[in-house]
Amino acid sequence: MIYLDNAATTRPKPPGVAEAVTAAMLSYGNSGRGTHEDALAASRTIFGVRRQLADLLGCMRPDHVCFTPNSTQALNIAISGLLGPGDHIISTDLEHNSVLRPLYRLRQQGTAVDFVPADRNGRLDWGAFERLLRPDTRAVVCTHASNLTGDLVDIDWVGEFCHTHGLLFILDASQTAGVFPIDMEKQHIDVVCFTGHKSLLGPQGTGGLCVREGLDIRPFAVGGTGVQSFSETQPAEYPTRLEAGTLNSHGLAGLGAALDFLEQTGLETIRAHETTLARRFYETIRTLPGVTVYGDFGKAERAPIVALNIAELDSSAVSDELAERFGIATRPGAHCAPRLHRALGTEDQGAVRFSWSYFNTEAETDAAAEAIRTLVSEV
Ligand code: ALA
Repeated sequence: MIYLDNAATTRPKPPGVAEAVTAAMLSYGNSGRGTHEDALAASRTIFGVRRQLADLLGCMRPDHVCFTPNSTQALNIAISGLLGPGDHIISTDLEHNSVLRPLYRLRQQGTAVDFVPADRNGRLDWGAFERLLRPDTRAVVCTHASNLTGDLVDIDWVGEFCHTHGLLFILDASQTAGVFPIDMEKQHIDVVCFTGHKSLLGPQGTGGLCVREGLDIRPFAVGGTGVQSFSETQPAEYPTRLEAGTLNSHGLAGLGAALDFLEQTGLETIRAHETTLARRFYETIRTLPGVTVYGDFGKAERAPIVALNIAELDSSAVSDELAERFGIATRPGAHCAPRLHRALGTEDQGAVRFSWSYFNTEAETDAAAEAIRTLVSEV
């Protein structure tokens, strides 16, 4: 199988990740639930991963890196724990349902939400940020890169906009953490939500949020933390404030090994490899008759994603054909990005999404382009 579905989850994981998970399963106790060596081993690993992520994402406080099973949970915690009735929120048409559905739910409860629109090429109307601003605007919640087109949002600009207008900035870094630089301090980001299993190259079931110092997020879940057991309320301190219940120390051990690999390899090296392959594919297929590619390829910097359609063919039929006949894994359909599909005019057809990781090769990329050429010739 030529695996080009890395925006859904990266595969393979770097050497050492599976081994770290296995070793943790064979030896760890429950972090924060005892002082014996096995419990402490889990705690040490988890704290080490908090430190690695704080370094990677420019979070000043490793103890403000809170773990969740995925970025959806992290986004729910940040959005519902900071915003509510009486507030106005600005978001964008590029968002995934992990941002949209928490926002729609808040809207039903009396929070005002507006979306910066995307055009038929998926480009945001940047002037809309200023136009949508209201006296009660409290936050911008947005993705760093569209999971559908790979187009990046200029988070330097959004951070400055939020800083200038006194808004909270909640960033969904699901598609970019581990590939593109993120610095909470320099970019004025209040909360970064991440998942471990995409470009951070770790196991599924890991993710979390980094919270700026001084920001008090209302806990979403409350329960056991291993500390302050006689208190009727959740501890106020991070990370336990947002971490009720046993943590996934096994998965986090794997994430730590993946972060070691990222540190050793370097984000720039990883980014250059992935984006070169995606660009190579794009340049080969973009002029084929009947092929429509979505997104803004005029920009050099973009996430390693190419979404396309062939004539009027249903994207699921094309993706199935790619898998069954050519052994190529892609993702078709709506990608949980309904607003962007509407903007692109692909609500019915969906799109076939190719996405690269550091472990893909030129040969795989060229085989995928050749498969598209074959399918085009058969239309
Ligand atoms: N959000 C993931 C994707 O884009 C699963 O495929």
